[in-house]
Amino acid sequence: MKQIYRWSLLYFILFLVLTSCGDKDKANDTAVSSPNGQHTIQFKLTEKGEPYYTVTRNGVLLIDDSRLGFEFADQPHLKDQFEIESSEVSDFDETWRQPWGEVKDIRNNYQQLKVVLKEKAEAGRKLNILFRSYDDGVAFRYEIPTANNMGEYKITNELSEFNLTQNYDAWWIPAYGDNTDYEALFNKNKLADLKENIHTPLTMELGDSLFVSIHEASLIDYAGMTLKPEGTKLSADLVPWSTGEKVRANGALVTPWRTVQIAPSAGDLITSYLILNLNEPNKIGNTDWIEPGKYNGIWWGMHINTQTWNSGDMHGATTKNTKELIDFASNNNLSGVLVEGWNIGWDDDWSSGNFNFSKPYPDYDVKELSSYAKEKGVGLIAHHETGGNIENYEKQLDDALAFMDKHNIHALKTGYVCKLANGKEYHQSQFMVNHYNKVMKATADHHIMLDVHEPVKATGLRRTYPNMMTREGARGTEYEAWSAGNPPSHTLILPFTRCLAGPLDYTPGIFDITIANKPENRVHTTLAKQLALYVTIYSPLQMAADLPEHYADQPAFQFIRDVPTDWEKTEVLNAKIGDHLTMARKDRNSDDWYLGSTTSDDAKQMEVTLSFLTPGKTYEAQIYADGEGADMETNPLAINMESIEVNSETVLPIKLAPGGGQAIRFHLTTN
Ligand code: NOJ
Repeated sequence: MKQIYRWSLLYFILFLVLTSCGDKDKANDTAVSSPNGQHTIQFKLTEKGEPYYTVTRNGVLLIDDSRLGFEFADQPHLKDQFEIESSEVSDFDETWRQPWGEVKDIRNNYQQLKVVLKEKAEAGRKLNILFRSYDDGVAFRYEIPTANNMGEYKITNELSEFNLTQNYDAWWIPAYGDNTDYEALFNKNKLADLKENIHTPLTMELGDSLFVSIHEASLIDYAGMTLKPEGTKLSADLVPWSTGEKVRANGALVTPWRTVQIAPSAGDLITSYLILNLNEPNKIGNTDWIEPGKYNGIWWGMHINTQTWNSGDMHGATTKNTKELIDFASNNNLSGVLVEGWNIGWDDDWSSGNFNFSKPYPDYDVKELSSYAKEKGVGLIAHHETGGNIENYEKQLDDALAFMDKHNIHALKTGYVCKLANGKEYHQSQFMVNHYNKVMKATADHHIMLDVHEPVKATGLRRTYPNMMTREGARGTEYEAWSAGNPPSHTLILPFTRCLAGPLDYTPGIFDITIANKPENRVHTTLAKQLALYVTIYSPLQMAADLPEHYADQPAFQFIRDVPTDWEKTEVLNAKIGDHLTMARKDRNSDDWYLGSTTSDDAKQMEVTLSFLTPGKTYEAQIYADGEGADMETNPLAINMESIEVNSETVLPIKLAPGGGQAIRFHLTTN
């Protein structure tokens, strides 16, 4: 008996020693790996106490020693002379449901390392750095704790670096320059050849085997991050205030996450939900009032010069025109009607501050229209073009939203056409980040869905504020109406770059491809590709952008009537950035699937196996394909529509014309 007791005691002591050792090791962890073990982030301090990190994928260095820290205008910097006070690894795994989106359920599964750094200097200020390692990438953010008692301070530089070990092919747009923010065509260059600051998401490819995209998540009360290239190293370069500093802070500070999505194929970037996972869950409570859908509008007419925003003979936003659009929407399964040019102010310079957001032009009877729309089961979408005059807009915001409440208007498109807001601040600056977020919250309070043009970049805040539906922040269809247009490759780059940030209001659906009223301009796709864009470019509010008369007697419009904007599942069937993309999505509210396939300049022939369909079931495939001899330049309207019976084993040939596409609805016919 004594013997057993002695052994038990020995085992117990051994257990205590082992477990306490384990805890101790854990407390000193400075590396963290993704749940599948593929991605490891290693944190380190140099001899001078400077924080650095590295990232490996399958043991191979992906990001070499990369700097972390801050410089301030009015405080000693937080960048060296640190020691590690503590560090801790934890894990997280949950599946959450999107109120609307490109998929219904999203798994958020990561391992986190929290490092608490303490200055050796007397002040002993702290800096927390959180690293998260996911199967689809890595991320980190900084926290400056309240206990530092830093009062008011100005960040002049965030020192974060991404020191990539390879000379990737990079698709990029300039961060500054002639275009309104983000409205540029993409360039493709070797990373080491980049010279100027670039916007994120920055997507890069290494020989068709590795895809990396750098962006940020949860951009709140901070400046947007651009990337400054130097060789294959990219450094964070925050967008400044007009006064030069990057971020104004007071006390505690939490930065956005710096994100690196990592994928073995281009399609896996599209189905990575890392940016959303790094945002806080829904903060606005009940979302039943939020309804994804399709809309038409008094819009394209202004861009092709058949109507005007301003008053006068060609004024678009009249009661009569709006009623016609409401009728069209109601008859064609569209849920909203956007009306631009409805309010006083368009006759003046857009930035002048003369826009009034509660005062319609006399020929626009908002009261009558809101009851007419209600009767027809359609919602009006208000438009607030601010011209970038934020003072004027914020002054009127409460009244403007109350005006919308009064007229039962629950969707709003805002606009910020200007080079610099208030004549001096960048769209991606902290000043504007705070403005956009203010409008996002105010509209949530009023149960208003939001679509922002000339926006701050998307960083996944739609998870926290699901009324933040969609935005521009890209060179959209409007450019086809009044510039050299968007080459066919553009919509083959967007899904892998800009769209990783979040939904894009690209405004597809132009059937008048050669733009009869503006023969010097044209759309650079076939008709079938216009349809396919509803599947390949995600937006919960999708526009049927053309004029109703261009849809009349067009059987292909049936696809736009049918296609949903809220999905249960999304799959990428084939993808090559800038070249081709085929996606399938399952409707959230029926058993139907939809497929969109698009190509750039070259014709393509491919086969896709319909294994995404439910095995054992039969579907009617309603196919909208480029017709015989279709060609974006010479014969864009040729379209071939047919219905065939398919199932999950069908191997479907897909033929795309130069600049072409194909759209398919798979309608379940057996149960
Ligand atoms: C630019 C927007 O992108 C476009 O959609 C809008 O019609 C004009 N600004 C006017 O607000």
